[in-house]
Amino acid sequence: MAKIIAGVGSSHVPAIGAALDNNRTEEPYWKRVFSGFVKSQEWMEKTKPDVAIVVYNDHASAFSVDLIPTFALGCAAEFPPADEGWGPRPVPVVQGHPALAAHIAQSVILDEFDLTIVNKMEVDHGLTVPLNLLCGKRNPDEKWPFPVIPLAVNVVMYPPPTGHRCYMLGKAIKKAVESFPDDLNVVIFGTGGLSHQISGPRAGLINSKWDKAFLDNLSKDPVKLTKIPHIDYMREAGAEGIEMVMWLIMRGALENKVDEVYRFYTVPASNTAVGHIILENAKRGSARKAKRAPTKVRRAAARTKVDRVRS
Ligand code: DHB
Ligand code: FE
Repeated sequence: MAKIIAGVGSSHVPAIGAALDNNRTEEPYWKRVFSGFVKSQEWMEKTKPDVAIVVYNDHASAFSVDLIPTFALGCAAEFPPADEGWGPRPVPVVQGHPALAAHIAQSVILDEFDLTIVNKMEVDHGLTVPLNLLCGKRNPDEKWPFPVIPLAVNVVMYPPPTGHRCYMLGKAIKKAVESFPDDLNVVIFGTGGLSHQISGPRAGLINSKWDKAFLDNLSKDPVKLTKIPHIDYMREAGAEGIEMVMWLIMRGALENKVDEVYRFYTVPASNTAVGHIILENAKRGSARKAKRAPTKVRRAAARTKVDRVRS
């Protein structure tokens, strides 16, 4: 039986990819960002998943505004890097896992989630940057360490799916993976966020308090997060903060109780608050500990304050 063993949340800032591609990772600005992923790369090497499902959003790279699927599952054998304006990133072509992807599509669609099946797709920074952060720099002639099933979510044009819908889709993906006959250890990524706004009068907005409460609740009380309406993401985390709903797909695909094994948060990278978390399904015994120390959300306190708006 296949199983989802862990979830990874990670921002996917395109400038992080550019820093890697242009060998700027030792500059102090970028070193601060990359230093937060050293332990994560060790964790990934130790964990050695057989497959990763990467929940991300396409930024009008593979899909133009002509066609915007809400949930698009990559079922192809491979996914080349997209040209986002400076040529495709110099990273390996992403190998897919068509058998597991087709199985997930069948199970999830029969579970009444209307996924779009994608048999040809390029992948942009939303997917390749988190892969780099967790697996390190890879040249085009190398390979990513595991096959990847991309799940592209619309968060670029209104209306994106609700956080609750994302969380429930995660649960359907968990069920799908667990009914796949091969013994595969699967890691699921939720990418994007955290707070950021790229344009308009509030460009540069960062709200660390909101981000940290989101990370706390992602571990301890994700159901609370599923009740956050779109307008609150927009108001508190900026227009692009809505990317955070994708982390709820990852969380929904895990057990109710998880162990937070790693967290990193730094501000800024480009326009964005970089958040990162690694959650493993709770081991026997640790669930009690998680129960003893519930985290209180102070959304009311987070509601009005933004701590950085670039003018
Ligand atoms: C930035 C962040 C993103 O998540 C993105 O998709 C594009 C740009 C930024 O920080 O500039
Ligand atoms: Fe983005």
